[in-house]
Amino acid sequence: MLVCIPNVLDAGQLVSLRARLDGANEAWVDGRVTAGYQGAPVKFNQQIDEGSDVALACQRIVVSALETNPLFISAVLPNVIYPPMFNRYGQGMKFGAHVDGSVRIHPHHGGKLRTDGRHSVKLPAGSLVVYPATSLHQVTPITRGVRTSCFFWVQSLIRDETRRGVLYQMDEAIQRLNQTNADEIARRS
Ligand code: NI
Repeated sequence: MLVCIPNVLDAGQLVSLRARLDGANEAWVDGRVTAGYQGAPVKFNQQIDEGSDVALACQRIVVSALETNPLFISAVLPNVIYPPMFNRYGQGMKFGAHVDGSVRIHPHHGGKLRTDGRHSVKLPAGSLVVYPATSLHQVTPITRGVRTSCFFWVQSLIRDETRRGVLYQMDEAIQRLNQTNADEIARRS
């Protein structure tokens, strides 16, 4: 299940994050520091040093936004949110297809991976996409400008992805019924 969540960060939070990240010169390190030796060959980006002050400050902004976002909570049912990380891709940088957790390139077994079909996502600043870490994903080469982003892993209260999807759909249905005043209409009829 892939869910896009719009406007997780508001304009003020975006300005604050961008100022901190753009000014964090020496905290930017080669993204391969957290890639296994198998993932490193397809990873071309920069990351903020996880232990730096700027990382901690930016994490606080993102986590507090996540904790108050109803759609994020409904879609993910978070148990543990791992400290968000920050990366950036300059022109020509990319992160080839990979699976999180055990980052492996599967030239022969790729077809056997259970992926969510093929989705292409490009979101406005401040929005978020959530997807199972076991799905194959990639960042295509940047053609112009700089792509600065935040990424993190969440351990859900519901381990099984299918069950999590059912609960999400049920919650969506309940909210839709609430919005259309369905209870009141049913009582009257
Ligand atoms: Ni990944």
